Amino acid sequence: MRDKAIAVDFDYSLNRVEHIELKREEKITKAISDEECYIILADNRSVGFMIFDYRFFDQGWIELIVIEEKYRGKGIGVQAIDLIGKQCKTNKLFTSTNSSNTQMQKALSKAGFSFAGKVNGLDEGDPELFYYKKIGETKTIS
Ligand SMILES: CC(C)(COP(=O)(O)OP(=O)(O)OC[C@H]1O[C@@H](n2cnc3c(N)ncnc32)[C@H](O)[C@@H]1OP(=O)(O)O)[C@@H](O)C(=O)NCCC(=O)NCCS
Repeated sequence: MRDKAIAVDFDYSLNRVEHIELKREEKITKAISDEECYIILADNRSVGFMIFDYRFFDQGWIELIVIEEKYRGKGIGVQAIDLIGKQCKTNKLFTSTNSSNTQMQKALSKAGFSFAGKVNGLDEGDPELFYYKKIGETKTIS
């Protein structure tokens, strides 16, 4: 339950409107009970969370990753993505992000992901960009 409070708080502070409108508390609660929510630790402190499952065409899928604002840009996101890649049971790992989210795109490119395609129509005027990585390839950690 402590983990739930941590993940819900991070998500709420990221975007209150989306958190409420997209019923993210329910989504996070379900991910925790399905053991698909990972709390990201740095120096023994919770600094973010990741939701990871196999719902995307039965492939490893990062549904969401959030790092607390003051810990961003320190390489933690890339390391967390690398670690989940090591646990992933499929040989490809997928994720997606909005075109406007350049931080996530940079993190994915640093983590060795390739562009997989663009889907229009989800968020009006802000296409969803899909990325994937073949597991087992050399991982880049700075
Ligand atoms: C996207 C996110 C998970 C990346 O995690 P992170 O720990 O910040 O990423 P890293 O430190 O590993 O850095 C990867 C790159 O992102 C960019 N970046 C990350 N945070 C940044 C910041 N605060 N300012 C500028 N650039 C930043 C940098 O280009 C960085 O590369 P660099 O170190 O060579 O400059 C994190 O920024 C975040 O939680 N963002 C808000 C939530 C979100 O958008 N999640 C993704 C949706 S699925």
